[in-house]
Amino acid sequence: MNAQVRPIRRGTSPFRRLLRPLIKPDVFDFWASCVNPHWTWERPLAKLVAREPASRDAVTLLFKPNAHWAGFQPGQHVNLGVDVDGARLTRSYSLTEPTRTDGLLAITVKAIEGGRVSEHLCRGAKLGDIFELGAAFGEMTLPSRPQGAWLFLAAGSGITPLMALIRQLAGQGMPVDLTLVYWARQRDEFCFLDELRALAAAQPRFRLRLMLTREPALRADEGEGRIDAELISTLDLRVAHQQVLACGPGGFVDTARALLGEHAKSFQAEAFTPPPITIDDTGDVEVHLRRSGRRLRLPRGQSLLTALEAEGLKPASGCRMGICNTCACGKFSGSARQLHTGELMHEATPALKLCIHSAATDLELDL
Ligand SMILES: Cc1cc2nc3c(=O)[nH]c(=O)nc-3n(C[C@H](O)[C@H](O)[C@H](O)COP(=O)(O)OP(=O)(O)OC[C@H]3O[C@@H](n4cnc5c(N)ncnc54)[C@H](O)[C@@H]3O)c2cc1C
Ligand code: FES
Repeated sequence: MNAQVRPIRRGTSPFRRLLRPLIKPDVFDFWASCVNPHWTWERPLAKLVAREPASRDAVTLLFKPNAHWAGFQPGQHVNLGVDVDGARLTRSYSLTEPTRTDGLLAITVKAIEGGRVSEHLCRGAKLGDIFELGAAFGEMTLPSRPQGAWLFLAAGSGITPLMALIRQLAGQGMPVDLTLVYWARQRDEFCFLDELRALAAAQPRFRLRLMLTREPALRADEGEGRIDAELISTLDLRVAHQQVLACGPGGFVDTARALLGEHAKSFQAEAFTPPPITIDDTGDVEVHLRRSGRRLRLPRGQSLLTALEAEGLKPASGCRMGICNTCACGKFSGSARQLHTGELMHEATPALKLCIHSAATDLELDL
């Protein structure tokens, strides 16, 4: 994986640097929150200030970050800590607009049936609610001077980071040839539809194809069918010339990579759901958590994050996909298996991602 694109951090004021040794951030945050829940010593928080429908099952939410938010680049994501029924849950969401003049952050959330956080954000969260905000992460960003031809492939909520990039390019007067192929089951699930169509009408360099998988196509910019080799050939995408960015569920991204990865000029993808785990390690092993002194029997073949949560522990986590690094922790001994590739990691490491590794042998972790 490439180095993460880091947003530029604001400097700390001399006054805060002077006070830093005297302040306990947790204590400061507790008393500050009695006056204003948005105030903290250094933790980024965000206040929900607006919500509007984005499609039949998605909403766009606008957040006002506090002073500790360090910024982002279009195409990046944030981890949002959300309190649902008394539990703090963390999920990743992509920022859908480049930096706004009013400083607000926009995300668009699709309600997943039975999904704890997405349903809360779409239906339960109230204006004024405060959320924990992680630092921006993700590598699917554009170069400072994009050139050549670009092909964006989006399925479902995978449109969100690509929308930020489309808006960035539109704001620059569309300096490249850009084709967006965007899949949804039904027409009323497309987000940003009016804006995308208006852009395609105004910008000859922007081409839009809307693909439906459970409804017939009716308009000239619509088509039917799931992503497969035949569909890609009928879309006439001139793949060999394209710099491809793909985003959507794990299965969609895997298919896009298999079809285009080797033929396109470049290929980059991010998945919003993990691929199915095909590792068939069985039995359990002993995992020693050195800091807490606990010893647990955990199943092999399951992510360490899921296995630890099943034991009632709450290791820090975010994307649960190996992208954000929130769950990384030290491994002193034992072998862990990368669940996506099957590779074994025998050596000690300061940063084992618990969400995409399982215990292959007895392990000792810095937890
Ligand atoms: C880097 C990144 C960026 C993301 N950006 C966005 C975004 O901009 N907008 C957005 O709506 N979502 C986005 N997601 C997905 C988001 O983080 C959550 O996974 C999603 O909102 C579901 O969370 P939940 O708590 O409602 O579901 P959970 O309670 O965690 O899961 C409920 C059920 O839904 C399934 N499920 C979980 N996520 C999805 C999904 N994305 N699609 C289909 N089924 C799912 C689970 O397997 C489970 O069976 C992103 C994910 C990643 C990793
Ligand atoms: S939770 Fe994001 S890398 Fe593991």
